[in-house]
Amino acid sequence: MIPVNRPLLDGNEKKYLVECIDTQWISSEGPFIKEFEDKFSKSVNRRFGVAVSSGTAALDIALAALELASGDEVIMPTFTIISCITSILNAKAVPVLVDCNDRNFNMDISLIEQKISKRTKAILVVHIYGLPIDMDPVIELANKYKLKIIEDAAEMHGQQYKGRPCGSFGDISIFSFYPNKLITTGEGGMVVTDDPHLAERANSLRNLCFNPQQRFVHEELGWNYRMTNMQAAIGVAQLERLSEFVEIKKNLGQLYNKLLSGIDEIFLPIPGESYAENIYWVYPIVLKPIAKMNAKDLARKLSDLGVQTRPFFWPMHKQPIFEKLNLFLNESYPNSEYIAEFGLYLPSGVGTTELEISDVSKVLRQIFND
Ligand SMILES: Cc1ncc(COP(=O)(O)O)c(C=O)c1O
Repeated sequence: MIPVNRPLLDGNEKKYLVECIDTQWISSEGPFIKEFEDKFSKSVNRRFGVAVSSGTAALDIALAALELASGDEVIMPTFTIISCITSILNAKAVPVLVDCNDRNFNMDISLIEQKISKRTKAILVVHIYGLPIDMDPVIELANKYKLKIIEDAAEMHGQQYKGRPCGSFGDISIFSFYPNKLITTGEGGMVVTDDPHLAERANSLRNLCFNPQQRFVHEELGWNYRMTNMQAAIGVAQLERLSEFVEIKKNLGQLYNKLLSGIDEIFLPIPGESYAENIYWVYPIVLKPIAKMNAKDLARKLSDLGVQTRPFFWPMHKQPIFEKLNLFLNESYPNSEYIAEFGLYLPSGVGTTELEISDVSKVLRQIFND
């Protein structure tokens, strides 16, 4: 079976991990944490980085750091991971959904303004699958209506928008380091910001909001969302190779584009927008109606022929849990619904080989008799 993802851990990861064991620094107090925070935040032009246990934790912290009031509205895409919406709900705020566009699967910026109300306080932007959302119009709206921007750059390590790093646009921005991301710490995430107050809040929220003057006294509820020194050690080693990994991903995407071109039944990802080149965090394909099958059918066929895939995100307004909570009833977002039903992504980790890409492409051609 060709796996959908394979990370590359053959740099300094082992050496730095051994250092953690030898020095007995394995908790979040160890020195790799600060090194990783400093180096990673600098790589995305931010003043502060707060390393945490996952991208989901980073989102929880980002939303809590902003101190929204109960009932404040946050605009977000329906086509994303559930962590985005749980962070808004945990902050007692109200998620307001927007459909994605059918070019690059990011939130359709032409649909955002109509969702802004008197209660809107923030926009949660999420860069999807390899291409960022067009940030300038979002920033314009945020300035016009005095909204905060939370930027979910979980999938965007090493990506730029108009030459500026993704993760440098939000009042507060987040990353994930899950193993399918461009750089990984096993599990892990980071909150980045230029605002010292938000950084201090993020620091406190990840560590149970201990009172700095009197430990075990708390004036606010936080979490234990700390990253361990061992995870940060892997992160430092991975970060050393980020530009190499971005090149690997770009080449992988371009190779798939070449090998899959001309298959009439599928849409391939676009190579770029005027503001960014695709870095193919994953390689997503979408079936056209003439394929006469959905993503589940195709995933089954590919699996039978030895190729592992992943389905696309399932839109938030279609989640059974939110129906139970009486959220988003009768809302419909056609682009997200279409790509969720007909999209999947192919093996596309930094460790996926050219031979594997070639084999996957042959299997796809076989399925479509091309
Ligand atoms: C856009 C986005 N945000 C947040 C997350 C959550 O990150 P984690 O899996 O580290 O909790 C993911 C995870 O894949 C993601 O793709």
